[in-house]
Amino acid sequence: MVPIVTIDGPSGSGKGTISKSLAIELGWNYLDSGLIYRCYAYLHLKKINNIPEEVGKINHNYKLDSETITYLDEDITDQIRGPEITKLSSELSQIEEVRSQLTMIQKTYRKAPGLVAEGRDMSSKLFPDSLVKIFLTANLEERVSRRANQLRNAGQKVNISELKNEIELRDERDTKRSHSPLKQTQDSVLIDSSSRTVREITNLIIKLVNEKY
Ligand code: DC
Repeated sequence: MVPIVTIDGPSGSGKGTISKSLAIELGWNYLDSGLIYRCYAYLHLKKINNIPEEVGKINHNYKLDSETITYLDEDITDQIRGPEITKLSSELSQIEEVRSQLTMIQKTYRKAPGLVAEGRDMSSKLFPDSLVKIFLTANLEERVSRRANQLRNAGQKVNISELKNEIELRDERDTKRSHSPLKQTQDSVLIDSSSRTVREITNLIIKLVNEKY
């Protein structure tokens, strides 16, 4: 079986950066499952038919600290990470039908030599047989500040108190929804990223992988 590391956690916990760092270091594939939900929301907004098939046409080029997302050669990076899609993807992800349509697509990322998969239900639903399961957290202030930096880097204006409310609302939706809510599984290792560097956390997870693989 192709080995997997699953990393779940709330927005701003650092799971994107850590997952990319890990995938690059291990030479494994990378699944940003939140991006799949964002693509779904983008295509929904564009009133595209047969969304699951079209999601597969969206291209994700990433490095540790930068990324480009394109659809039919159009650069949609800023829009897909922007506030409208952020809100809509969180809302649409509550719908069971949407979740089940996107399950098959996410499973196709399991390819040799391995996969690092990040999201909300990677350990609990998508890949319950993963080799190492991580639940990543960070305190709210740190998460708000990381998201603010992300938005500023994308050239967007930031209102900190609005951002904080938005993150709290998303946390509530993600943890309280009835289908595949965000929660730590019993067999996950809890890591608080608030005061640790990307390098420290990457090394810690690689150690866990080496112990098991
Ligand atoms: O990780 P993100 O912020 O890019 O995710 C966008 C939305 O997608 C998030 O609000 C919840 C949803 N999501 C989900 O329901 N399940 C996942 N595995 C990943 C994301």
